[in-house]
Amino acid sequence: MNDVADAKQFKTANEASGALRYQVGFGNEFETEAVPGALPKGQNSPQKVPLGLYSELVTGASFYAPRHLNRRSYVFRIRPSVFGGEAEPWDGGDFRTPPLDVPPLPNRVYWTQRKDEGVDADFLEGLLTLGACGSPMMHEGVAVHFFRATKSMENRAFHNSDGELLIVPQQGDLRIMTEFGVIEAEPCEMVLIPRGVKFRVELKGAFARGLVYENYGHPWVLPELGLIGSNGNANAIDFEAPVASFEDLDVETQVIQKLAGRFWSSVIDHSPFDVVAWRGSLTPYKYDMRKFVSMGTSTVDHPDPSIFCALASPSHDVSGCNADVMIIPPRWVVGDNTLHLPGFHRNAVCEISSLVTGGPVKDDFDPNGGIRITNNWGAHGPEAKPFEAARAQANLDPEYTDFISVMVETRYPMELTQAAMDLKERVRDVNAGWTGYVKRFPNG
Ligand SMILES: [Fe+2]
Repeated sequence: MNDVADAKQFKTANEASGALRYQVGFGNEFETEAVPGALPKGQNSPQKVPLGLYSELVTGASFYAPRHLNRRSYVFRIRPSVFGGEAEPWDGGDFRTPPLDVPPLPNRVYWTQRKDEGVDADFLEGLLTLGACGSPMMHEGVAVHFFRATKSMENRAFHNSDGELLIVPQQGDLRIMTEFGVIEAEPCEMVLIPRGVKFRVELKGAFARGLVYENYGHPWVLPELGLIGSNGNANAIDFEAPVASFEDLDVETQVIQKLAGRFWSSVIDHSPFDVVAWRGSLTPYKYDMRKFVSMGTSTVDHPDPSIFCALASPSHDVSGCNADVMIIPPRWVVGDNTLHLPGFHRNAVCEISSLVTGGPVKDDFDPNGGIRITNNWGAHGPEAKPFEAARAQANLDPEYTDFISVMVETRYPMELTQAAMDLKERVRDVNAGWTGYVKRFPNG
C-alpha cells in the first residue's frame, strides 16, 4: 500500500517540479520504474512479478528484425490489457483512412492555418484527414491530418493499429499521457507514438491545433548520415523517452482503437495507464525541432532536401521513401551566386510541406500553420514576383531564416478527402501566382 502511495507522490513530484524527466536516446534499451523494485531482476516473465504486477510484451517489429531495427518493450502493469467484452463500432468522423474521396490531383493543394472557430472537440474528435496514400492493410503509405481541440480527452484512450503517429503541435501546449509515461510538448516539438500504444491528449490551454502524420509503413528510424559522418541532423541524444508514470484509478474508461481504417470502442473499469515500470526499445518519443543540426552549402547551389531528413521510413531504393520527415529549422542561408529561394523543381516523390511557426517565407507560403501537398512530378517553385525579387537581389550575404518547416515526402501520390477540399481554409486560386514569368531568351 505504501508503494502505491509513494508512486502517486513520485508522479506528482515528477510533474510538480515544472520539468518532466525524460530518458534520452533513440532505439536504446531503456529501463524505468515509478516504484522502486517494480522491475523484475534478470528476467521479464517471472512466476510472480514484483508488487503483484502483470508482465506484458508489446512489440513494434517482427521478432527477428535486425537488432538495430527491433522494437519491443515489456510493461509491468496493475492489470493486463486483455479485455473480456466485445468492442463496438465507433464513428471516427473526419479521421479517415484510404481509400479517400478525391483522386491525386496534378495541381498543388494548399490550406492556410485553421483557427479555433466552431470547435468543440478533444484531440481525437477534432482530427480531420487532408490526404493519404497506401494502405494500413498493406503496411505502406502515410496520411496527414489537421487536429484542433478545445478540451482534453477525458476517461478516453486511443491506440492506432494502422500506423505510428507523429503529432506536431502548432499552437497550444499538450500533455500526453501514454502507457510509457507522460510527455509534454509545445509548438516546435514533435511527439512520436508507436503503433498500438495507448495515449490520451490533454490540453494545457483553451485551444490547440497542429498536424498529425500517420505512418502506415516501415517504422520511422534515424536516417543513415552517409558522407555527413556520425553527427548532425537529428542527433539520437536529442530524442526524449518518458519515464514510467502511472494512474491507479478505478474509473470507467473508453478505449478506442483504429484497425484497418475502422474505429472500435471498448469500455474498461480502470485507467489503462497503469504501467508501473517498463523496459525495452519500444517507446514514445519527443523531439525538439530547434535542436536539428542543419547542413548546407558553403559554396554554390542548393543541396537536395534530403540533408534535412530527421526521420526515415524507407521503402524502395530508387522509387523513393515511404515517408521521410524533413525538418527545416531556423538557419543561415548561404550561397555565392545562388538564388536564395528554392529553385524550380519536379520531384519523383510527393511533398507534404507545412510551416510550423515563423515566417513569412519569402516565396508564397503563408506563415504559421499552412500546409501544401504537391504530388509526384508536380512542377513547383517560386512565384513570378518573389522570383524576380530574388533574381535582382544585389546583396547575397548570408541571410537568417526564422521559420520551422516540416516536410514529409512519400513515393506514393496522395489522395484527398472531400472534407479537406471543402474547407474554407483551402486556397482556391493557389496556382494563380505561377504566371507572368518574364521571357528573357535569347538576350538574357
Ligand atoms: Fe518541393
